[in-house]
Parts: sequence; C-alpha cells; structure tokens
Amino acid sequence: MTRQRPVDQDLVLVGGTGDLARRKLLPALYNLGCGGLLPERGVIVAYARSAMSDDAFASLAKAAVAEHSRTGLDESAWPAFAARLRYVAASDGGYAGVREHCALPERLVYLSVPPSAFGSSIRELDRAGLVPGARLVVEKPFGHDLGSSRRLEEAIHAVFGEQQVFRIDHYLGKETVQNVLVFRFGNAVFERVWQRDAIDHIQFTVAETIGIEGRGAFYEETGAIRDILQNHVLQVLSLLTMEPPASFHPEAVRDEKAKLFQAMRPLLPEDVVRGQYVRGMADGEDVPGYREEPGVPSDSTTETFAAARLFIDNWRWAGVPFYLRTGKRLARRTTEVAVVFREAPVAYFGGTAVDRLKPNMLNLSIQPEERISFQFLAKIPGADVRVEPVRMDFCYDEAFRMEPAEAYERLLHDAMDGDHTLFAREDSVDRAWQVVAPVLEAPPDVCFYAAGSWGPRAANDLVQPRLWHPR
Ligand code: BG6
Repeated sequence: MTRQRPVDQDLVLVGGTGDLARRKLLPALYNLGCGGLLPERGVIVAYARSAMSDDAFASLAKAAVAEHSRTGLDESAWPAFAARLRYVAASDGGYAGVREHCALPERLVYLSVPPSAFGSSIRELDRAGLVPGARLVVEKPFGHDLGSSRRLEEAIHAVFGEQQVFRIDHYLGKETVQNVLVFRFGNAVFERVWQRDAIDHIQFTVAETIGIEGRGAFYEETGAIRDILQNHVLQVLSLLTMEPPASFHPEAVRDEKAKLFQAMRPLLPEDVVRGQYVRGMADGEDVPGYREEPGVPSDSTTETFAAARLFIDNWRWAGVPFYLRTGKRLARRTTEVAVVFREAPVAYFGGTAVDRLKPNMLNLSIQPEERISFQFLAKIPGADVRVEPVRMDFCYDEAFRMEPAEAYERLLHDAMDGDHTLFAREDSVDRAWQVVAPVLEAPPDVCFYAAGSWGPRAANDLVQPRLWHPR
C-alpha cells in the first residue's frame, strides 16, 4: 500500500520540548514533511511547561532535527516545516491556548507526559473542547502495573472512544518487525513449520550496550520488566506467534494478537531471572555499576536485565518454551529472534558427525543488523561424511539499497491516517500486565552481572540444556 498525505489536521504535542519530542517526534515529523507525508494543511502545536516564544521553539526544533534526523537537516526544506510550528506554555492559557491554534476539525494529540500526568491532561483536553475530532496517541508506559493501567484506561475512556486511541509501542513501527508478518504469511514454506511439531524453542533478545543514560529516577521506578519485557518484547512475540488474521484489516490483526495474548501463560517467579549490572567494560570503556549511577540508591534492587521462560497454551505452541531476554550494558547491541528447530535424528549420520550436528536455526535480526539468516547443515567436501553448519543470508541493506523510515515516522503517519494496525489495543495491554503481574508482585532476587557481559549466570541455567544465541 503506498502511503499518502493524511487528511488536513492539526498536531498537538503535549510535552513538546521533552526528550522524546526532541530525539524522535520532531525529527520524524520533519522527515514526513520532506517526504510529502504531512497533511496539506495543519499546524504543529507544542505544549509544555516552560515559557518560550514561537521563535525559540523553532530554534529548539531545528537543533533537534539537525542532531537526530536520519536524513540530517536540509536548510532549503526547513522553512516550510518551521512555518507549521507553534508553541504554547502551560502558564500561557493552558489548553485553551492550544485550542486557539487548532482551527481544523481534526487533530492528532500526542501525549508525551509521565503516566502520573495522563489523567489531568486528558481532563484538560476535554475541558478545552479538544476531544471531538481528535485522535489520541499515548506513549508507554501504559501504567505501572495492572491496577494503574486499568485506572489509566478508565481515565482515557471517560473521554475518548477506543477508536480514537493509539497506544504507541515503537517496536511495532520498526520495518524489520513488520516484516515478521510478511515473512510468516507470505512464505508458505515457513508457515508450515511454524509450530510445535517442528520447533524446539524460540528465543528473543533485546540487548543494549547503553546504561540508563541519566534517567536514574525514571528507571529506578521502572526496571527492565516494565520498560521492555511487558511491552516491546511481548508485542513482538505476539506477531511471531499469532494465527494468520482473516485479513490485514487493523481489527482483524489486533483480534489475532489479542487471542494470542490470552493464551500466554502468566510468568511465575521461578521462570524469571532478574539481573543488575555492576562495574565493567561496555563498548571498550570502563563504566560504573547501576547502583553507582546518579539518582539510584546504593541498595537498589531494580533489575536492569530480565530473562524469562514463557509458554503459550494453544494448539500451535503447547510445550514450546519461549526464552525472552533483555538488558542494559550487555556485551553487544542487538535485537534478534532465534527460531531453533528440532534436531535431526543423530544416528543417521554415524558416530563421527555427531558432535558437529546442530539444529536448523532461523535468525531474524531486527537491529542494528537488519537481516534474516537460516542455518542448515552441509557436507564438508571429502570422502568422509562430515557435516558443518552453514548459513543462507538475506540482508535488507544489500537487497533493497534504501534506508527504512524511522519507527516513529511510520507510526505518526499511521495515527494521522487513523490506521490502528501497528498500535496496541486495550485488551492486549491489559493481558500483557497480567502476564508479568506474578513476577512484579513477588520478584525473584536480583543476580549481579558485569557490565559488558551477557547477563547473570542464572540466565544460562534458565535455558538449560539449551544455549542462548548470541552468547
Ligand atoms: C524504550 C525504553 O522504550 O526503548 C528504553 O524506555 C530503551 O530504555 C529503548 O533504551 C530502546 O529502543 P530502541 O529502538 O533503541 O531499541
């Protein structure tokens, strides 16, 4: 489907000068503008606490684009984008001030505020008359646990209908994640083996080399389970494992995801390993431990690593373990899926080959490498039957020679277009909280790991007799 300009609408960025706005939203909107994918008519109103003139905001936005846009800043394209920008400070008439700029009947309101400010922001939007004709984008985290997520949903639904709400999970906007569906449902050969008779287990790793980047206070309240596992990891897992949807209509896709979430068995504390990094080497540098980071208490038990063994209780997946892992300050930055197939019967190759026998493995690399590779066995040339694992490789960059759009570009465009396909629905978010709830309520003790390693040793025990890929 080719992407088109969305209908005329204004855009309201609540929290429009924050980190997310500067690093992701403004550069994404700028690139959409350059690609002719912003509405023909409509302003972009940033709303935040500090007092600032429109010009000062435009300078802030320009610096943000220059620093973070994937295409850099094109001076000749800037004036057209800058002409859309407006700024309203909370002290400057509040949302009524925003309303004055929004002349069009439709608008997209992006709430990039802490969860504690969601409820009041929504009530104020309502009071200012900004709700009719609006689509609301809410950023993760959707709450802190099951109870707070439900309260948040109540606050949203007191004012907005579900069709007006877009819960963003930027992993779903990544090109390589979207390709999971095309790979599965466009290639019958793989879909046939995408089930428990053929698959031994599936692993999904989201490994980062960065630490908490000065977000000590936020991270201390959050931890890896809430920050990545409950949302990014489970959302991607649902795409990897859901049944084929009846069509690619947004609700057909979201219905299948919801069924899959229902079949996820809630995690028990013994299925989870929590880790926390201590001083070590990351990216060639000596880095402090988590407890030494600013804003983190010296006795913190917040996890910066989580590994889990999860089961999906349905016909396709019964008995297949899903090993999920995420962490900060790990050995290498990589987000990847390893689908490990059942082994061939060993005796078939005779004694000498046994130690080389490796199962077929399909590797879906999501970032920073964007590739798919399949590992299979080949005979080493020679008189003896000796085998060696080899790989077939597909690399996005080499195959298509184009840089994919950023996740936020895709998602902002879809939200302006009213397309819910890549957004999390209330029922799935609720179930995802139920899945992690037992661990949040009775968290296992944290195990320490050196920064720059692959996490605590206990995570290896969790997958035994299997091994993590990568390790
Ligand atoms: C965010 C988390 O949702 O995702 C961050 O809050 C994390 O802690 C980030 O670093 C990772 O996103 P990406 O796209 O760089 O993998």
